[in-house]
Amino acid sequence: MSNKITINTDIVKGKINKNIYGHFAEHLGRGIYEGLWVGEDSSIPNTNGIRNDVLEALKKLDIPVLRWPGGCFADEYHWKDGIGPREGRKRMVNTHWGGVVENNHFGTHEFMMLCDMLGAEPYINGNVGSGTVQEMSEWVEYMTFDGESPMANWRRENGREEPWKLKYFGVGNENWGCGGNMRPEYYADLYRRYQTYVRNYGDNQIYRIAGGANVDDYHWTEVLMREAHHLMDGLSLHYYVHPGGFWNKGQAVNFTEVEWDETMQQTMYMNELITKHSTIMDKYDPEKRIGMIIDEWGAWYDVEPGTNPGFLYQQNTIRDAVIAGVHFNIFHEHSDRVQMTNIAQMINVIQAMILTENDKMILTPTYHVFEMYKVHQDADRIALDFHVDTINENGFTFPQVSVSASKAKDGTVNISLCNLDKAKTASLDLDLRGLDVSEVTGRILTANEMNAINTFEEPENVTPKTFTGFTKEGNRLDIELPSKSVVVLSIK
Ligand code: AHR
Repeated sequence: MSNKITINTDIVKGKINKNIYGHFAEHLGRGIYEGLWVGEDSSIPNTNGIRNDVLEALKKLDIPVLRWPGGCFADEYHWKDGIGPREGRKRMVNTHWGGVVENNHFGTHEFMMLCDMLGAEPYINGNVGSGTVQEMSEWVEYMTFDGESPMANWRRENGREEPWKLKYFGVGNENWGCGGNMRPEYYADLYRRYQTYVRNYGDNQIYRIAGGANVDDYHWTEVLMREAHHLMDGLSLHYYVHPGGFWNKGQAVNFTEVEWDETMQQTMYMNELITKHSTIMDKYDPEKRIGMIIDEWGAWYDVEPGTNPGFLYQQNTIRDAVIAGVHFNIFHEHSDRVQMTNIAQMINVIQAMILTENDKMILTPTYHVFEMYKVHQDADRIALDFHVDTINENGFTFPQVSVSASKAKDGTVNISLCNLDKAKTASLDLDLRGLDVSEVTGRILTANEMNAINTFEEPENVTPKTFTGFTKEGNRLDIELPSKSVVVLSIK
C-alpha cells in the first residue's frame, strides 16, 4: 500500500473560511429566470416569486455568500432598470448570453430578499465596463445608506425602509475580457477611481474586490497588486476546467477516458495557479490581508445538444463531483490566502447544483459534494503528511488521491477524500495522530460508470450512501476508496 496519510489532529493550520463554499448566480440562460425566479403569479409553488423546491434544496447547503448579477452580465447591467414596480421595468437585450430579452424582474430587491431567505451574504458585482462611477456609487448609496438622500429615499419609495447590510462588492468583472478588454495598467487606475466612491455608510463596511487575472496571467496580478493593493480587500481569480480547451470544451456526459484524465490534470492545475498568484500577492501583502477571491471556477463543457449555445446548460456527472471535491481540498490547503470562492454557477448553468425543467428539479452530483463538505465551513484546518500514488495515463499526470481534514467546533474531525482514478480502487493507510478514536462514520458519493448522472426520470442515481469501506485498528484506518469517488469521514 503506498497511499499513506497522517492526519495531525493536534496541529491546526488556521481556519477554512466558510465563504470558500460560495455560489454565483448570473443573468444567464435559465440560471435566474426559471431556475430561481418564477414570479409570484407562477403555477410553480413559490415564495414571493422564488420557487420553493429550489429554495428548500439550496437551504440545505448552508450557502455562505452569493455573487450576482454577473459575470459578463455585470458590466452591462444598469441597476436602476431593475427596481420599482416590475411591470414598468425596462426591458433589455442580454447580448452576452443568447440575445434574449431581460425583463429586469429580478433586481436588487429580489436578490437581497433571496439572500435573506438563504441566510447568505450578498456579493454584488458592479459595472465598470459600461457603467459610470456615479452609477456604481449610487447603487451602494441606494442599498446601504440609512439617512436622508436621493437614493435612500428612492429605496424607501420602493418598499424597503431599512438599508441592507452589504459586505462584498466587486469593482468590475473580467476587465481583461468581457468587462472592457482593458490592460492591467488601465484597469488598475480605473479600479482606484471607482472604488473611491464605493462608500462605507454608517457601520456598513464594504470589502472591495478588484477584478483579477484570467488563469495564469501573472502580469495582471503583479500590476494590480503593485498599483492598488492598498485600496483593495480582495483580488479575484478565474479558472475553468475544460478538457478540450476553451473553444472546444468537450462533452459533459459522453466523454472518453482520455478526457477524464485530462480533466483531472486540469483540476489539479488550480493548485499551481493559487500558489503562483499568491507568491506575487505575498510580495505586496506579506501579512495576507488581501483575500484571493476565486469568484468563478468549475468545469465548463459544450452545451447539451439542442440547447441554446448562449445558455451554457450542461449535465453533471460523477466526474464533476470529483472535480468539486478536489477543488475544495485544494482551496483548504491555501486557506491562509483563499478567503472566498464562488462556483459557476448555481442553477442550470455550467457546473450547477440544481437542474430544472419547468416545474421539475434534480440535484446534481456536484450538489451532493457541497452538502457533504459543508462540515468544513469555518472549521480549523488540520496539518497533513501524505504520500499518494501518481497516475500517469494517456499523457496526463495527477495524484490518485486528494485529501483534506478539519476539526469542527465540537471536536469532530472531518476528512474529505477523493479518488481521482476512473478505474482503480485506492488503498489508504490513514493514521489519526493525536486522537483517541472512538467512532468513525462516513458517506460516499460514487457510481459504476464514469459518466453517471441524475436525470429527471432517475433523480437518485448518484446520491451519497453510507461508507463502510474501512477497518479501524486503534487510531489507524485501512481504507478502500472506490474509483471515482468522494468520501467524507467523521471521526469522534
Ligand atoms: O460564468 C460564465 C462566464 O464566464 C462569466 O459571465 C464570465 O465572467 C466568465 O467568462
